[in-house]
Amino acid sequence: MTQENKAILSGMRPTGRLHLGHYSVLENWARLQKDYDAYFFIADYHALTTAFDNTASIGQNIQDMALDWLAAGLDPEQSAIFVQSEIKELAELHIYFSMITPLSWLERVPTYKDQVNQFAKGGKDIMTYGFLGYPQLMAADILLYRAFGVPVGEDQLPHIEFCRELARRFNYLYQRQVFPEPQALLAKIKQLPGLDGRKMSKSYDNYITLGADRQEIEQRVRQMVTDPARIRKDDPGHPEVCTVYTYHKYYNAEEHEQIKCDCQQGCIGCVACKKRLAAKLGEYMEPIRERREHFAGKPQLVQEILQDGGQRARQKAAETLAMVREAMGV
Ligand code: TRP
Ligand code: SF4
Repeated sequence: MTQENKAILSGMRPTGRLHLGHYSVLENWARLQKDYDAYFFIADYHALTTAFDNTASIGQNIQDMALDWLAAGLDPEQSAIFVQSEIKELAELHIYFSMITPLSWLERVPTYKDQVNQFAKGGKDIMTYGFLGYPQLMAADILLYRAFGVPVGEDQLPHIEFCRELARRFNYLYQRQVFPEPQALLAKIKQLPGLDGRKMSKSYDNYITLGADRQEIEQRVRQMVTDPARIRKDDPGHPEVCTVYTYHKYYNAEEHEQIKCDCQQGCIGCVACKKRLAAKLGEYMEPIRERREHFAGKPQLVQEILQDGGQRARQKAAETLAMVREAMGV
């Protein structure tokens, strides 16, 4: 931790096991944890905003997420890794914020109406008090630790802007600088396509699970979509439209030029090409799989990591809340 006082924070909703598409986000977190006072939490309250009627798998999803994070290289020595709902101070801050958050601010967050409509199409009404408050809860997540930076994707920018406005409003109303205005830390994250070339996503079933073993990787790579113009193996191929080739570029730096050339000239078949990718990807993902297995075999240790992270988080949270209570006269 080289920038002792600078806190960064991010979270993810526990929606099931993570895949290779999430890995670049986690890699970025793992890089940042070296330089900042880092907080990473599993956002189970946020999961409840939409999955309030289907909570059976939340416990399992939290465990899986902890394992995936540790597997990806989040280091509990450096980062506080914890479960959102373990920090009761968050609920308290959320209540205080709810007194000063204008309804109109919540109603105009662009993701709100989008999501409501999205869920309505599936026959589900998520127009609850809690879901409307999603951005306010997220602001409380961030401001509770007085984070200066929030590593998130572009889709979260409206939420960060909301958070900045709320911080300003609080500081202005109570005439003191309790909260810094946090900024989004946007990293250049590579967009890994799924097996079928679309965005990698659980709902498309086009993903490679984080922690997959070599056999599973090989099986998934076999399902990848290749250049549809190639019928016979000596047909000239178009690697630029082939997902397998995109993966070679990411994971097979030494060979990808050669593979491109061989494909274009029809000197390599797709089956062989995929075999080579599976081997490389297997090598690349092996340390992730090993770490996941290591922690999966030590559930007690994982519990301790989450508890310890929670303790560190609560300490910082308590400092903030003392200032907030003082400011608000409660
Ligand atoms: N809304 C974020 C997402 O869907 C998750 C999240 C909840 C979060 N609280 C946060 C991210 C605080 C950053 C900071 O990805
Ligand atoms: Fe894609 Fe490789 Fe087949 Fe070329 S040889 S189309 S790059 S899988």
